[in-house]
Amino acid sequence: MIVCSCQTISDKDIHAAINWMRASDESTIITPGKIYHALGKTPECGGCMKLFVASMRSNSNLEVPFELRGLKAKQQNWR
Ligand code: FES
Repeated sequence: MIVCSCQTISDKDIHAAINWMRASDESTIITPGKIYHALGKTPECGGCMKLFVASMRSNSNLEVPFELRGLKAKQQNWR
């Protein structure tokens, strides 16, 4: 299914990019911008972002690395 019609990016492209990034660096934070960059493309209208992020969230490799979870809550407790 095409997710981004401006750049012809499919849900399979998104999953492949996420899986590749996670295999390359298990602690990386994966963002839509990094996926566009990995695919050699840039977003144009941004109209696909809701579906783009939903496609990302359906990938089990998207998880935030364990050591980076809860950092915001920890920072608030330091005050
Ligand atoms: S549809 Fe994805 S940037 Fe336009």
